Amino acid sequence: MKKVKIGNQGFEGSVISLGIMRMDQISLEEAKEVVQTALDYGIDYFDHADIYGDGESERIFGRAVKEMGIPRDSLLIQSKGGIVKGGMYDFSKEHIISAVEGSLKRLQTDYLDAFLLHRPDALMEPEEVAEAFDLLEKTGKVRHFGVSNHNPMQIELLKTKVKQPLLINQLQLSVTHHPMIDAGLNVNRVNDLSIVRDGSILDYSRITEMTIQPWSPFQIGNEKRGVLIGHPDYRELNEVLDRMAEEKGVAQETIAIAWLLRHPARMQPIIGSMNPKRIAAVAKAPEVTLSREEWYELYRAGGYRLP
Ligand SMILES: NC(=O)c1ccc[n+]([C@@H]2O[C@H](COP(=O)([O-])OP(=O)(O)OC[C@H]3O[C@@H](n4cnc5c(N)ncnc54)[C@H](OP(=O)(O)O)[C@@H]3O)[C@@H](O)[C@H]2O)c1
Repeated sequence: MKKVKIGNQGFEGSVISLGIMRMDQISLEEAKEVVQTALDYGIDYFDHADIYGDGESERIFGRAVKEMGIPRDSLLIQSKGGIVKGGMYDFSKEHIISAVEGSLKRLQTDYLDAFLLHRPDALMEPEEVAEAFDLLEKTGKVRHFGVSNHNPMQIELLKTKVKQPLLINQLQLSVTHHPMIDAGLNVNRVNDLSIVRDGSILDYSRITEMTIQPWSPFQIGNEKRGVLIGHPDYRELNEVLDRMAEEKGVAQETIAIAWLLRHPARMQPIIGSMNPKRIAAVAKAPEVTLSREEWYELYRAGGYRLP
């Protein structure tokens, strides 16, 4: 699989990343098959968070990798921290450090290739984050840093004290959920789509060379639940996905990810499937380049009209 530059510091990983959020729902043996399938198809980047399955997802992944005898340096392991069960966020120095240490223990590794702040903490003190990151970097526990679900000003605020480059921002994005694209297409219009809800995070990410990692790329999003493939509310989109999939000899899922990859921001989508067949199908997406016409047709087929 092709590699993508992650940020602008020479760090790179597979264009598609596998999210491990749902690994607590499968057995250890199934987890091994999922990891093996990902590696077989060139997916070497795995996204975790301390809270996934209450830590069980990281634990199963760590055990699977250990028992399979996979060398640590053939994997890129990313985790996130800062969400506290029970309804709060915590970017204090102590919490960040203990979140990373908990992840390392469950993953049975002594370093993370990347660590992200999971969701903005309203009580965030940039000095504390900076101290935590300095310590995690100095002790070799974290190699690269980033954020998730952050807007540009929150990132700028962090940067007033954090010395390490922030390479990554994980954001919800799919062919049915793309407010960061809608706002740019509807400048000056008086409609809901023109509202900039994220501080222009898409353009900011390109300007600052931060890599967007689209999460839940198969979920409808927009506060609706469900998978967009085959969803009755998205018949037109599914017809177009079907047609393009047939024309290119790939699966609908492959086209949905190719739509994200066609964007010049050079994103790294994080798929969450725990189904080896689906992982294999999606892994073909980097080989499919949609035309401008196809990209816009998929956008419109999702029910979005251009001004
Ligand atoms: N930063 C954040 O706030 C945040 C939030 C959520 C997630 N994430 C990350 O993003 C990753 C992906 O999230 P996600 O799991 O919600 O993503 P997703 O890839 O959109 O959804 C995958 C889920 O949809 C199911 N599914 C059913 N039919 C499908 C189809 N035709 N195509 C694809 N999937 C289908 C999959 O089932 P099967 O397993 O049977 O394929 C799986 O349960 C997570 O693992 C996590 O690492 C980050």
